[in-house]
Amino acid sequence: MIVPSFIQTHTVLSRHASVLKYGLHILRTKRLYARKPGSRDEQIKEQDRFSHMSISQLDKEFDLFNDTVTRMVDLGFAPGNWLLYAQKRLSEVHSVEPHKLNTICTVVGFDILFCQAPKGTYSIQGNIYSQNAHSNILDLLKKRTYILEEARKKSQLNSESSTKDNIEADITRLASKVSSLTIENKLAYFDQDMDLDRYQADLILSDLTTAFLQRDGFFNNTMAKPFIRSRENELLRQPLVNPHEAHLDLADAAMLLCCDSLAKNGTFVLRLADVRPGDQGLGLLQRRLEKMFQSVERWRFDHVDPRLSLKEVFFICKKKLNKTYDKYDLFDVRQIQVEAKP
Ligand SMILES: C[S@@+](CC[C@H](N)C(=O)[O-])C[C@H]1O[C@@H](n2cnc3c(N)ncnc32)[C@H](O)[C@@H]1O
Repeated sequence: MIVPSFIQTHTVLSRHASVLKYGLHILRTKRLYARKPGSRDEQIKEQDRFSHMSISQLDKEFDLFNDTVTRMVDLGFAPGNWLLYAQKRLSEVHSVEPHKLNTICTVVGFDILFCQAPKGTYSIQGNIYSQNAHSNILDLLKKRTYILEEARKKSQLNSESSTKDNIEADITRLASKVSSLTIENKLAYFDQDMDLDRYQADLILSDLTTAFLQRDGFFNNTMAKPFIRSRENELLRQPLVNPHEAHLDLADAAMLLCCDSLAKNGTFVLRLADVRPGDQGLGLLQRRLEKMFQSVERWRFDHVDPRLSLKEVFFICKKKLNKTYDKYDLFDVRQIQVEAKP
């Protein structure tokens, strides 16, 4: 069959266009990672140093890790600089060894990449755009509250019985405990309505953006796949190719999580890694945050060190006004009422 020449030209052109598109993506990615001078190791050290510097400076200025914080979530935690800092500071304020922090606090790291959380803390792998991931975070906070409350009750009972030395009471207590030791009972406990404010987080940190340079796990597909996938996966690719809009979208997703998962009076720290100065989207984001929090402050690193002129901006949001916030109201979306058919 003879294919008309204009169709042949179109096919060749579209093939060229997709090769060009792929080439541009490679160039952009290379430029992003090649921007900083130095070897791979030096770049990794610099990224870690900067992360550590930002969280410690924020903590100094806004007293983030105080003794009212026992439950916290770190969104986009890999490779774990902020989480390590949180573990160290919370173990100091609660006077417990860092690897035993889970006996008092629930510290959760969340990331799309697989990353081992330090001992005494927890990690969840998931995509912040998935509703399921939000439920998993709340679920873990709920289960941990149950475990900590049970442990507290147990130690209270132990100290009471040792002082009273009442063997009869001990036997009755143990018998009732043994009878309730079934998996069904535990599951029933999780299903029952535990008041949300008993397990919501006191502090949520969000640093969702392009992943840092991969430092280990090259042999392991589980770790390396998401890096490779970022070329194919439209959402994961966005912070690389369309940074300004992507960071606003990631901020919205983190803000949605705060509606249910952050406690009343809780604190939300939001980092946007790359913003356009004067972007109207930033103003809109701030107005939305002001609906949910009593105080919202924009913070930049160059205010600490004027030599640093970074593209990043932080929002420090304190004192969430209510236990929950209506997501439709937050985004000014009217709920569509579906009328039931007669
Ligand atoms: C700059 S790194 C965070 C660094 C971290 N705060 C630290 O101190 O080490 C940003 C993280 O956000 C994660 N991320 C990006 N998009 C995500 C998404 N849609 N869901 C979950 N995590 C995401 C990336 O995998 C990456 O690890």
